[in-house]
Amino acid sequence: MAVVGRDYRVSGPERERALAAGLADATWYRPAIDPGALARLSERTDARAAADTLLWLGLLVASGFVAWLALGSWWAIPAFAVYGALYGGAADSRWHEFGHGTGFRTTWLNDLVYYPASFMLWREPTVWRWSHFRHHTDTIIVGRDAEIGFPRPRSRRDIVSTFCHLVGGPRLLARMVRHAFGRIDDDTRDLVPAGELARVRLEAQVFVAILAGVVVWAAVIGSPVPLLFVGLPTIYGAWLFVFFGMMQHAGLREDVLDHRHNTRTVHMNPVFRFLYSNMNFHLEHHLFPTVPYRSLPELHSLVADQLPPPAPSCVAAYREIFDALAHQHADPTWEIDRPLPPARVGATVPQPVDRSATRGTVDAADHRGGATPVSSTSIDLGPVGDFAVGRLTRVDHDGCTYALACLGPGEFALTDGMCTHGAAHLADGALLGDVIECPRHNGRFDARTGAACRRPARVAIGTHRVAVVDGRVVAEPGGTAGSADPA
Ligand code: FES
Repeated sequence: MAVVGRDYRVSGPERERALAAGLADATWYRPAIDPGALARLSERTDARAAADTLLWLGLLVASGFVAWLALGSWWAIPAFAVYGALYGGAADSRWHEFGHGTGFRTTWLNDLVYYPASFMLWREPTVWRWSHFRHHTDTIIVGRDAEIGFPRPRSRRDIVSTFCHLVGGPRLLARMVRHAFGRIDDDTRDLVPAGELARVRLEAQVFVAILAGVVVWAAVIGSPVPLLFVGLPTIYGAWLFVFFGMMQHAGLREDVLDHRHNTRTVHMNPVFRFLYSNMNFHLEHHLFPTVPYRSLPELHSLVADQLPPPAPSCVAAYREIFDALAHQHADPTWEIDRPLPPARVGATVPQPVDRSATRGTVDAADHRGGATPVSSTSIDLGPVGDFAVGRLTRVDHDGCTYALACLGPGEFALTDGMCTHGAAHLADGALLGDVIECPRHNGRFDARTGAACRRPARVAIGTHRVAVVDGRVVAEPGGTAGSADPA
């Protein structure tokens, strides 16, 4: 008898089950980490991302040139194999890193790579941006996460077709064409805010028009060569991103609020790490999305003692995955259960979402608790010297939580402490100049005005008065409130 799996659609019945169980937008496990080290690791630079991106593009152009020269000979096969892997495979981790906005320090440079990489993968930029936000909110929560790559059960034929991208690729293309004609499916509506659906349609139209242009070009010259360079590499080069991507979560647990149970880190050689932009440290990436790819190896060394041991190699990871997939083919509830090291003091305890809690309300142990009231409206946060420039500090007072940003010597900003997009304490994020970046999805807020300045954050946070008085930082909570949520 055929084994029936769960319904993995985000608009299906599993969605209600996940919501009812408090698994949506819940609080996840987060290891203890020195805030200063996290602030340093979260720093951005343009130089490293530019060098890596130029190297990738240089290899892509060089392999394409060799493939063009080799047309008509057997050498074209390996040449196009390399070109395709760089195009339809290595583009994946670039799409990912620059979609998070963490690769380049300069915001627009991230988008400059994100959009072409999206095109190379047939991923509609806005749809996949929101889908990936959800992937980070509700990682491998069935009915919520649209990026579960290996729904159970998986037969051998399913696995082969995933590597060949012969089902997934055409599905992406078909959805893009539907979106270009304004036919938006339920899953997309569940992921993307209504106000951004027009942009979804426009992006799909642009991508479809480019691909159609290449098809017409190939038809006019009576040769498939243009399609071998643009369009088809998305299919024949996809094996590389599947090879890497399968190691991220396959075989691990569903419906848990702890990435240590559902995400895998794998040690890889330097060539793979370049092609994959260090995403082999995938568990660390999920735990701390504000840390750019270049700093993940160091992050790994700082928190490794709080995590399950990484797979020592790709071979070891695939042994574990194929064993799990074989078990899950017969019994979809079978899962790899990893023993975990004991939690350290300062680690965040996972908890299902409490929908009765109000934004800005303290929901865990005090961080900068014990702030001293100076008057009925003012609180003394301590000497100026206690706060390092470029750092965020959580301040809990009178049942509310705030984020104190030290913008410069003796220069501070105080904002609401909870993100307006999800259940995340902004003080756990990164301070990038005058901008606070949320620790969960890299949404950003202007620390001075509270304005939301990067998706998925779209609603401003409140700001509050703070000043230095006699060498001490004194706050007056109760300032401006956030704006209304746009549709
Ligand atoms: Fe999503 Fe803050 S929780 S951007």
